[in-house]
Amino acid sequence: MDLPWGEERTKQFVTNVGLITSNGPNGYDIMSAEWTHHISYNPGLIAVCINRTDATHENIEKTKEFGVNLCASDQNVLSSIAGGYHGKDVDKIAALKELGYKFFKAKKIDVMMVEGAAMNAECKLFKQIELGDHTTFVGEVVELYPVGKEPIVYHAGKYWKLGDKISKPLQEELDKIKEVVEKYKKK
Ligand SMILES: Cc1cc2nc3c(=O)[nH]c(=O)nc-3n(C[C@H](O)[C@H](O)[C@H](O)COP(=O)(O)O)c2cc1C
Repeated sequence: MDLPWGEERTKQFVTNVGLITSNGPNGYDIMSAEWTHHISYNPGLIAVCINRTDATHENIEKTKEFGVNLCASDQNVLSSIAGGYHGKDVDKIAALKELGYKFFKAKKIDVMMVEGAAMNAECKLFKQIELGDHTTFVGEVVELYPVGKEPIVYHAGKYWKLGDKISKPLQEELDKIKEVVEKYKKK
């Protein structure tokens, strides 16, 4: 079955917003991608799922590199601009600079990186996988910057801030759990 955009049940997912930066036939560009995930420790891999008609898609296919900047909780407007216009029509980086947002040049790849993000990683394309109506670009991290601000949360098509921390089981509960688990251990 299909899971179309806006399908009520898929709104239960909680994601982040990756601000994906690239360069190529469409020039320096930035887009928002909630489908941005860390998928391997060794080597460090990050996957981003991008619509085939996006300028970012064409850029990454050509240059085989991209920046992953995790959107901070105070960058909601930036996310809406990056996700609201196409890099084939608009120089979003120039527009964002005029609106006061700051960028810096990546060290190991030729893209712009977002200042004040929650996380900045430079990636070289590791694998390109065609899955359904999006392409999954898997990037190997070649440069990682120090931890930034708190990440924004994306849920039900809206932006949120991280809420209260929920505790892990206390020692007493852990002991009880262990007792029960021991009983059901497979021989
Ligand atoms: C919060 C948010 C999350 C988004 N997530 C994705 C995503 O995961 N994948 C995708 O292909 N498009 C996503 N989009 C839409 C793209 O950001 C949008 O199509 C953008 O204009 C593409 O820019 P480009 O043509 O310059 O590459 C998202 C938009 C917003 C606002």
